[in-house]
Amino acid sequence: MADQVILIDHPLIQHKLTLMRKAETGTAAFRTLIKEISLLLAYEVTRDLPIKYESIKTPIASMNAPVLAQDKKLVIVSIQRAGQGILDGMLELMPSARVGHIGLYRDPKTLIPIEYYFKVPHDVEQRDVLVVDPMLATGNTAVAAVERVKSTNPMSIKFVCLLAAPEGIEHFTTAHPDVPLYAAAIDDHLDEHGYIVPGLGDVGDRLFGTK
Ligand code: URA
Repeated sequence: MADQVILIDHPLIQHKLTLMRKAETGTAAFRTLIKEISLLLAYEVTRDLPIKYESIKTPIASMNAPVLAQDKKLVIVSIQRAGQGILDGMLELMPSARVGHIGLYRDPKTLIPIEYYFKVPHDVEQRDVLVVDPMLATGNTAVAAVERVKSTNPMSIKFVCLLAAPEGIEHFTTAHPDVPLYAAAIDDHLDEHGYIVPGLGDVGDRLFGTK
């Protein structure tokens, strides 16, 4: 597996992912679980954020205490619509992160992803970006979304998903060898409809109760 692929196989994440995978898990529990897992993913994905020191006073003494060095907050770019689940969890941990959205649909004839919505903070060049989407299936959407985010010249980009299929990893790492890819699990393959197997079904439908 390429070094750029980082598997976050923490026991808490694996346990919660198994609950999400179960067909009988309902919408409310599914939402809670995706939030909780995303919060844990955010903790790992932000592990390398730079720290600076500032002088503070505790009730007892003065000290040089660590704080995040970045003046500009991170941007979380959610790929519509299932990315919303990861976005909500990450915002609980990082409530002042900035948010971007990208909407893509697949042209039924050419299967090429077409953008229908894109909005990121105007000063994204001075910010680090996390692009989030729960499922890296074929990789077509993730590759196009990261391409679009790259066109805005952010300081850095990471891609975060819950489940990745080998086909999606191959596609993504070939298209964007410079973008770290974080996943909670790598599944077996894609079925003929592009679903991840064993997977967890259609995340958008399970998250929003639209099935
Ligand atoms: N999107 C989903 O929601 N599920 C899959 O298995 C693949 C893509």
